[in-house]
Amino acid sequence: MGSGIAQVFLQAGSRVLLVESDAAAGQAAIARVEDGLRKALAKGAPPVDLARLELLPSTDAIPALVDVVVEAVPELPELKRDILGAISRALPPDCVIATNTSSISIDLLADSVESPERFVGAHFFNPVPVSRLVEIVRGARTTDDTVARCVEWIGSIGKQSIVVRDSPGFASSRLGVLLGLEAIRMLEDGVASAEDIDLAMTLGYGHATGPLRSTDLVGLDVRLAIAEYLQGELGDRFAPPALLRRLVDEGSLGRKTGQGFYSW
Ligand SMILES: NC(=O)c1ccc[n+]([C@@H]2O[C@H](COP(=O)([O-])OP(=O)(O)OC[C@H]3O[C@@H](n4cnc5c(N)ncnc54)[C@H](O)[C@@H]3O)[C@@H](O)[C@H]2O)c1
Repeated sequence: MGSGIAQVFLQAGSRVLLVESDAAAGQAAIARVEDGLRKALAKGAPPVDLARLELLPSTDAIPALVDVVVEAVPELPELKRDILGAISRALPPDCVIATNTSSISIDLLADSVESPERFVGAHFFNPVPVSRLVEIVRGARTTDDTVARCVEWIGSIGKQSIVVRDSPGFASSRLGVLLGLEAIRMLEDGVASAEDIDLAMTLGYGHATGPLRSTDLVGLDVRLAIAEYLQGELGDRFAPPALLRRLVDEGSLGRKTGQGFYSW
């Protein structure tokens, strides 16, 4: 996600500092950005001056003059809290700090951020260069000015933003996961095949991807973890279906393992 976010800001003309703690992962991230830019160029996007992209080995090296930091480390609350805390202590209070978390409470993370009024969720979607939406998640302490600056940046990279109050699953995961879980229950009940359930939503309702195919793309293990979290926070309508648990136990995790609701 970090390399995709770097790519779209480069394409919008920004100077981008990509922070990676692991040297090999850093080189791989740069290669992903370059590959993404090559693909964009082939589709007619203007060339990007790579001198505007720089790799930094740690958050300590981020200069104080940056406008915004987008954190995109793995979805581990303690790791995110450590990194966000360190960044916020090092950067002036007018630097906006955003997290790309897809599920963790913004208010929980904000407890570790110095000057939490400049802290906000910026939930990008995968793959970042082609997705059209960024979900901006407003914590209890996030100011109007921080939200306004974020909306402006998201517009400058050519994406639509929605602003959502910090709440479990935000807007996108809460609706998307519920649809996916109901589709799995329908498959369990023998209502229709996976293909036909997906066609009901793609052709019937104009969704770009059906809920079962979408679960395969995200990863069944990831969906199960989010469903369990949302069940705890919002109730049993998010209870994971037995079929989802069985497939995860078998190691059928979707596209990444070659088998989920579909064979890949
Ligand atoms: N994968 C998705 O489809 C998706 C979609 C939306 C949001 N997200 C969110 O984006 C975030 C990142 O997800 P991802 O799938 O890109 O994960 P990933 O594991 O592919 O990437 C995480 C990166 O963080 C780096 N990292 C780890 N510790 C670091 C540190 N201390 N300093 C600097 N870099 C460090 C790792 O080397 C790795 O390159 C998560 O919060 C995830 O929930 C993911």
